[in-house]
Amino acid sequence: MTIDFAALPHDFLWGTATSAYQIEGAVAEDGRSPSIWDTFSHTPGKITGDDHADIACDHYHRWREDIALMRRLGTNAYRMSIAWPRVMPGGDGPANPKGLAFYDELIDTLLAAGITPSVTLYHWDLPQVLQDRGGWPERDTAEHFAAYASVVAARLGDRVSQWTTLNEPLCSAWIGHLEGTMAPGLTDLTAAVRASYHLLLGHGLAVQAIRAAAPGAEVGIVNNLSTVHPASDRPEDLAAARRMDGHTNRWWLDPVHGRGFPADMREVYGVELPERAGDLEAIAAPLDWLGLNYYFPATVTDDPRGPAPYARSVRRDGVPRTGMDWEVDPSGIEALLLRLTDEYGARRLYVTENGSAYPDVVRPDGTVDDPERQAYLTGHLAACASAARKGAPLAGYFAWSLLDNFEWAYGYDKRFGLVHVDYRTQTRTIKGTGRHYADIIRRHREGVARAA
Ligand code: IFM
Repeated sequence: MTIDFAALPHDFLWGTATSAYQIEGAVAEDGRSPSIWDTFSHTPGKITGDDHADIACDHYHRWREDIALMRRLGTNAYRMSIAWPRVMPGGDGPANPKGLAFYDELIDTLLAAGITPSVTLYHWDLPQVLQDRGGWPERDTAEHFAAYASVVAARLGDRVSQWTTLNEPLCSAWIGHLEGTMAPGLTDLTAAVRASYHLLLGHGLAVQAIRAAAPGAEVGIVNNLSTVHPASDRPEDLAAARRMDGHTNRWWLDPVHGRGFPADMREVYGVELPERAGDLEAIAAPLDWLGLNYYFPATVTDDPRGPAPYARSVRRDGVPRTGMDWEVDPSGIEALLLRLTDEYGARRLYVTENGSAYPDVVRPDGTVDDPERQAYLTGHLAACASAARKGAPLAGYFAWSLLDNFEWAYGYDKRFGLVHVDYRTQTRTIKGTGRHYADIIRRHREGVARAA
């Protein structure tokens, strides 16, 4: 598998990604308030092994070491998220100076290391106080989100240019409010649809707030999309695939592109949207770029008695899978990059997450050789370069993840890191895939230097 390096721009961003709750720890330090994930992870039975992220990777104290790791990998970008409950512990109202100071210093140190920060404002850690007032199903949450975004952009916007409003709103709405396996753990279609609406409204309001607070900001949204295939050519399965595509992809893409919420899906959900005049225009605020998080494709069958969208993923036999049991299919990332380009007219794209968990074997000397993860990375990067060759305006790739970390409902059981973390000692060790990524980055840079 070869990567067509020449198809990638010279100033390509080679990054890694993390999120606040998954790595920071220090959940009760310096004024941080609990988030819905603190509540959820401390609810017995919700997380494998009853794990929580009270300490996680202790990044709150070890961030300097983590930036040094990024330098060793040779990356020139880092996608991170801000913890809303650290910066604005009351959900709305006054900012917490210590919370802002933490991110201030982190950003300065990244920049000094030659690493461009790409900052996400919401990676699922809603302050619990706002959940207690109704959370995302309520309109106020969208407005509070924009106010919080404004405070952070005003503070960091002189040094951060790349901003993401939401990470994977699909997970917040559908997994958090419909499937119930993520915080806040509801199984309520009406709450889920209302949450999806207010998440996108919050996104749109935040775009305006960020631009007002930080002129020159480049703002985008990050969606986790999947290619969707019907399990058979039965008309029922073809219709199910269309519904799953609506649920996973179109519901999140169409409104931000000024197309409104897809009519077929409104009918499938049968839930009235809490629409007000001007909302659709706010949601469709023009964006500077789109972020794609890609992990696996879906093959679906009709499931009339199941939950919305009445389509169920089926497990295909005889295909490679990661340790998450997710199918490995690099052609999906290429197809989605081209779809965003051709169908949605994307002018700039980033792969904001892509990666794989495998059961790592740690050698007695602490090293990890992980050929499957390495092959996953190479295969997906080759597919990205192929999409770029065919015209996708791909400007960067962020590997998920810099570090092994708290993988939500799976706890610490699943490891996505380029760097292994020993949670007992907090020792970090670059895995074989981390070294492989460094080599890929070096080869791209050599090509750029030769072309100069
Ligand atoms: O760990 C998550 C991340 O928080 C969001 N995208 C998918 C990753 C792997 O499941």
